Amino acid sequence: MSNLLVYGSYGYTGRLIVATAMERGIEPVLAGRNLSELEAQASEWGLTYRTFDLERPEIIKQQLSPVDVVLNCAGPFVHTHEPLLDACLETDTHYLDITGEIEVFESIAARDEQATDAGVTALPGVGFDVVPSDCLAVHLQNAVSNPSKLTLGFESLGTPSPGTALTMIDGMLSGGAVRRDGKIRPVPAGWNTRTIDFGSGERTAITIPWGDVSTAYHSTGIPNIEFYMAAPPWSIRGLRLTRRLGPVLETPPIRRGLESLAKRLIGGPSAEQRQHGETRLWGEVTDEESGETRIARLKTPNGYALTAKTAVESVVRTLNGEPEPGFQTPATAFGPEYVLEFDDVVRRDAMAPPSTQVQ
Ligand SMILES: NC(=O)c1ccc[n+]([C@@H]2O[C@H](COP(=O)([O-])OP(=O)(O)OC[C@H]3O[C@@H](n4cnc5c(N)ncnc54)[C@H](OP(=O)(O)O)[C@@H]3O)[C@@H](O)[C@H]2O)c1
Repeated sequence: MSNLLVYGSYGYTGRLIVATAMERGIEPVLAGRNLSELEAQASEWGLTYRTFDLERPEIIKQQLSPVDVVLNCAGPFVHTHEPLLDACLETDTHYLDITGEIEVFESIAARDEQATDAGVTALPGVGFDVVPSDCLAVHLQNAVSNPSKLTLGFESLGTPSPGTALTMIDGMLSGGAVRRDGKIRPVPAGWNTRTIDFGSGERTAITIPWGDVSTAYHSTGIPNIEFYMAAPPWSIRGLRLTRRLGPVLETPPIRRGLESLAKRLIGGPSAEQRQHGETRLWGEVTDEESGETRIARLKTPNGYALTAKTAVESVVRTLNGEPEPGFQTPATAFGPEYVLEFDDVVRRDAMAPPSTQVQ
């Protein structure tokens, strides 16, 4: 019997995670709702599998009872986190996932007390979103005396996987989000732009509703948070067009069409892209009263390569009993230096130049 069950094990990212777990000598139980995919994956690795969907709570509980940790890789997580977490709380099973969805982080954070009482760790976001940015947020928190504003961003995720593309379509249709005075506020898609030097020259960047709008607040308590992604001006214009097209794009047939197009056309980064890709993160913290500002940057491997490693390492540490029970973010579970423990991750601190706002 393995101590780990990977749900959604045969998706693009689930496969990377299973391969990484095997490299580390962990033999996960594979799980999901597609029997033929599970059979093929299980025979490739010589692993056991469980076929169940997330519709019947009793079945989920039965399947989770023998395992210590569930790693949920079945996204968009807005559709999958709740039934799995419900069952985890009743079966003493720790819950981890690789979500980057604000709504999912907030939903899990709201169950902190329940998880604490159950002695269960609920640790979403153990992938590229949000391990590096969450660690950067907590690192920056201590760089000024009274941090009141945190701005984070990244450049160059490379090609997305099918599930990320679907999750991005969902996110794009529901507009943007920032945190103001401790509350998450909806803003239009592509609400603000600014130029950011992620470490290789200035780039135009746009606000996106990335998971840190939720998690960085839980990790640092900083009340004002924005998250930016580097994007060329033409794509910013395209994203802003969705504000006007939103109601049309949200109609079920158009939405289904977009989703099936994403599934057919987007295969995710190749092994070579994962091996040689690079991602840059940037963060800026400000004490708005004194004007004191500090920035820091992180360079990491390709986001999917990093996700596989951070997800498996987070599982190992959870199996070892490292994080406290209750809702955790990666940085509250493992500390702000956690991301620096992975190969090819480098952090640099710098003074902030005057920021340039563009429209
Ligand atoms: N945090 C990060 O940095 C990070 C990194 C990578 C991926 N992700 C996220 O992880 C998710 C998966 O990405 P991916 O590229 O691996 O996607 P993918 O290749 O499309 O795989 C998705 C997996 O989830 C399963 N699934 C989806 N909805 C389900 C549901 N309602 N019930 C049961 N199973 C369901 C799919 O099973 P079926 O085929 O049976 O539908 C499949 O196994 C996405 O949301 C993506 O955004 C996050």
